[in-house]
Amino acid sequence: MKIKIENSSKKTSLLCGFVLENTTKSLGLPKFDTKTTISINQSLKDMEGKLGKINIVPLSEKNPIQRILLAGIGKKENLTNDTIRFVSGKIAQKARELKLKEFSIVSPPSFIHDPISTVSQIIEGTKMALYKFDKFKAEKTEPSPDLTIIISKSTKISKIIKTSEIVADGTIFTKSIANLPPNECTPTTLANFSKTIAKKNKMKCSIISEPELKKKGFGGISAVGQGSKNQPKLIILEHNHGPKNEKPIVLVGKAVTFDTGGISLKPGSAMDEMKFDKCGGCTVLGIMKAVSELKLPLNIVGIIPSVENMPGGESYRPGDIIKLYSGKTAEILNTDAEGRLILADALSYGEKQYSPKAIIDFATLTGACIVALGTNVAAIVSNDEKLTKKICESSKRTTEEIWELPLNQDYMDMIKSDVADMKNVGIGRAAGTITAAAFLKNAIEKTPWAHIDIAGVAWTQGATKEKSYNPKGATGFGVRLILDYLQRL
Ligand code: BES
Ligand code: ZN
Ligand code: ZN
Repeated sequence: MKIKIENSSKKTSLLCGFVLENTTKSLGLPKFDTKTTISINQSLKDMEGKLGKINIVPLSEKNPIQRILLAGIGKKENLTNDTIRFVSGKIAQKARELKLKEFSIVSPPSFIHDPISTVSQIIEGTKMALYKFDKFKAEKTEPSPDLTIIISKSTKISKIIKTSEIVADGTIFTKSIANLPPNECTPTTLANFSKTIAKKNKMKCSIISEPELKKKGFGGISAVGQGSKNQPKLIILEHNHGPKNEKPIVLVGKAVTFDTGGISLKPGSAMDEMKFDKCGGCTVLGIMKAVSELKLPLNIVGIIPSVENMPGGESYRPGDIIKLYSGKTAEILNTDAEGRLILADALSYGEKQYSPKAIIDFATLTGACIVALGTNVAAIVSNDEKLTKKICESSKRTTEEIWELPLNQDYMDMIKSDVADMKNVGIGRAAGTITAAAFLKNAIEKTPWAHIDIAGVAWTQGATKEKSYNPKGATGFGVRLILDYLQRL
């Protein structure tokens, strides 16, 4: 899909304008002849600008503008940072349904939204809504139509178009690898994807495999990985575009390409969804791809521990005591609590190797997170107020919602073990998301750190709120969020 800007619309198959609720005008549409104006007015009356409603007014065949699309955005006081994004997504899906080659959206005037954020929302919404995971289907989705945004041209607008396209493409990349089935996406596949993007975008990429993992002390990654014939990998990507001696930001993402639970086997129902247990790692990959394409003047490191958690004769077991990269020992009481083991290794490695300014990790870590916050809000647990505040500010802008959970000494005490430095589960089902975070906190000595549990939001589940730009499957949650955070540093 190609995107361009024009000052005014001359010729198009579909000219789209936004409409506020209970208004009689579409925002920014040009003047038409009397007959057309009457039809448009009738359509406006029918739809009343109701949020998400779409009406199409066909024009005469001779007209260079073949159809008008009116898209309701609801009441002005109810507009959010997401409205233009998901309504644009709906428009784009309609344009594809009509099998159009191109369509145009009139950017609403600045009293609705500042033009920069409007343009980025239109681009993110349309691009993300048009993504479809059809790799394994004979019947392919119609090709995506090209988009023209009608707005007065300026260098600022041209720049935001490019940026928004890269951000949307990063999210789509994350979705497209996160959606891959576990037989087609092993830790080695993820390592190969990483090498490919690194090569294309001039990043440094290193992969640590067995037996080096074990030799170097990555006891968590080795233990979880040992039950699968698909060998574990630790993927490290470096984008070095900041001042030479500036400390980097480290991003860590859990990539369990399939989580059966291991010897503590999961129940069968919905186990297939555990192909999405690699979403944290995929988020980090999407961010690194975008960061390198944007050439952000920062030093950023992406670390992705990747394993397959399988039961078998070689698997780690409940009762095992393993030594993590930090040097601390962990008693395994449930092999299904594997995410914290591989993340702990990656977090300690990130801190020791890079002395970063901050570490942020993403993980589909706990089912408890879905119980606590549902499927539309992620949890953030952190040791640093300032870092949390910044990420929460970005979350307001990108509308990827997060909510902070506490982490005090009482929670740290809940993972104390009788026989090792800690155990890999808490006490019963109490505060499962926080006790998992407590385990991670032990991996970090002094660096500001934020952990984002995306178990509920990384893919669409039963209770997921429907959004045009999040079709069924992986959502790419966190890519836009962290790109916003990084761009504001
Ligand atoms: N990958 C799961 C967490 C998960 C479950 C994410 C469902 C999304 C949906 C994780 O590895 C896990 O199984 N965690 C256990 C931890 C428990 C054994 C302490 C859980 O949440 O039940
Ligand atoms: Zn698990
Ligand atoms: Zn898991």
